[in-house]
Amino acid sequence: MTNFRTFILGLAASFGLPWLCLIVLPAMQYEQLAPVAYDKEKDGVEGYFPPAPINGQGQLVYISEGCNQCHSQMIRPIQLGLDGWYKGWGQDQEARPATPARPSVLRDYLGERYALLGIQRVGPDLANFGWRAPDANALHVHLYSPRAVNDWSTMPSYKNLYKLQKVQGPVSSRALKLPKKFAPPAGYEVVPTPEADRLVEYLLSLKKDYPVPGQGAAVAASPAKK
Ligand code: HEC
Repeated sequence: MTNFRTFILGLAASFGLPWLCLIVLPAMQYEQLAPVAYDKEKDGVEGYFPPAPINGQGQLVYISEGCNQCHSQMIRPIQLGLDGWYKGWGQDQEARPATPARPSVLRDYLGERYALLGIQRVGPDLANFGWRAPDANALHVHLYSPRAVNDWSTMPSYKNLYKLQKVQGPVSSRALKLPKKFAPPAGYEVVPTPEADRLVEYLLSLKKDYPVPGQGAAVAASPAKK
C-alpha cells in the first residue's frame, strides 16, 4: 500500500513539477511583462522594447495556413549547450557572419496576439526572416511555388493564396514573374490575394533581433540601420 502511495506521489510529482516550471511560472512571468524603455546612454538606442507590433492580420493567415507546423520563431539560448543558432537564420550572413542574433526573449512576443514559437523545425527558423527576405515579389513566387526558388524544397505550395485570372488588356503589374515551368497558361496571369499580401507583410516584419535593454545592445542589430 505504501508502495502504491509512493508511486502515485511520484507520478504526480513527475507531471506536476514540469507543469509548474514550464507552464505556470512562465505564464505568471509573462502576465507581468510590459514594454521597457531603452537607456539612451547604455543601450545607444532610443524608444521602447519591443519596438513595434507586427502585422496581426498577416499573423492570422500564417496561423490558418499552418506555417507554424514547420517553422519556428524562437532561437534557443546558447547557454543550454545546444547551438540554438544556425547560419542563415539571421540577417545576411555575409555582412554579419559572427553571431549577430541573440536568443529569443519573452518580451519579443509582447506585441503579438499569439506567440508562434513553432513545434518543429522542418523549415528554417523565421524569427529574423525580415532581415534576409528577398523583395515582396520574390517572396510571393516562393509561396506560390517553393520549387521555383529551390528545386529541392519540401515546402508545400500555397496556390490557394493566389488568383489565376485571364489577362484583360495589359498584364497586371502585380502578376508574379514565374519561371516557365511554373507559369500559368498563355493568356493567364497569377496575382496575389489580399491574404497573400498580408502574409508577406507579416513575414517581412519579422526582425526579432533588436537590442534588449541592458543586454549587449552593440551585438544585436540596431533598428536604426534599416
Ligand atoms: C511542410 C513543411 C512546411 C510548411 C507547412 C511551410 N514551410 Fe516554409 N519552408 C519549408 C522548408 C523545408 C523550407 C526550406 C526550403 C525552401 O526555401 O523552400 C521553407 C522555407 C521557407 C521560407 C524561406 C526561409 C529562408 O530562410 O529563406 C519562408 C519565408 C517560408 N518557408 C515561409 C512559409 C510560410 C509563410 C508558410 C505558410 C504559408 C510555410 N512556409 C509553410 C517547409 C514548410
